[in-house]
Amino acid sequence: PELYEIAEPIVGWFRQNKRDLPWRKDQDPYHVWVSEIMLQQTRVEAVKPYYERFLKELPRVKDLAEAKEDTLLKLWEGLGYYNRVRNMQKAAQQIMVDFHGEFPNTYEEILSLKGIGNYTAGAISAFAFGLPKPAVDGNVLRVVSRITGSREDIMKQSVRKAMERALEQVIPEDAASDFGQGLIELGAIVCVPNGEPKCAECPAAFACVARKHGLTAEIPVKKKA
Ligand code: ADE
Repeated sequence: PELYEIAEPIVGWFRQNKRDLPWRKDQDPYHVWVSEIMLQQTRVEAVKPYYERFLKELPRVKDLAEAKEDTLLKLWEGLGYYNRVRNMQKAAQQIMVDFHGEFPNTYEEILSLKGIGNYTAGAISAFAFGLPKPAVDGNVLRVVSRITGSREDIMKQSVRKAMERALEQVIPEDAASDFGQGLIELGAIVCVPNGEPKCAECPAAFACVARKHGLTAEIPVKKKA
């Protein structure tokens, strides 16, 4: 099986099975950004109320750019990793100054914003703008390693890079967002890290090397801390 064969099944599965989450109500790049930054170190259930409150208080990029530090810290209190929100404010100020308050809509420009790395730039590009960019987080590293049967160490940057290049080749041009979100969702609710993955529910099971060889407990390989 080839990786491209899983794209349409995952898109279809996601459309049928996606959880109703607050950041899936629209495709506003500011909303996608806030959610992805919060979700980087925090569980979905914990993020929900923070996400709603943050956007209620700071509904637009301009509000974030102009917010007082104590407002920011209060909105972030309990999420930890406070540099995340400090960087977000700097990036919001960049958007106001360098992009006239309009969220940039190319991958390279998005990547130029403070605190936005590969993953987040890919997520905003695909989920907000429908651009054919991969968003490879821990979920996606696990899902794709299992499908391809890769025993490479997913902690290696080179492995992530190779996966990004491989995914880039198979992103459906009319469904970049649902494909990217579908991979994440699959990792979150079906192709789970601990215990038994729910292969009977997986739209990619037909193509999955780890499942075929009974290797879901061995893959992904995670070596370097
Ligand atoms: N984890 C990271 N990004 C996510 C998203 N958009 N939805 C659910 N879980 C996620």
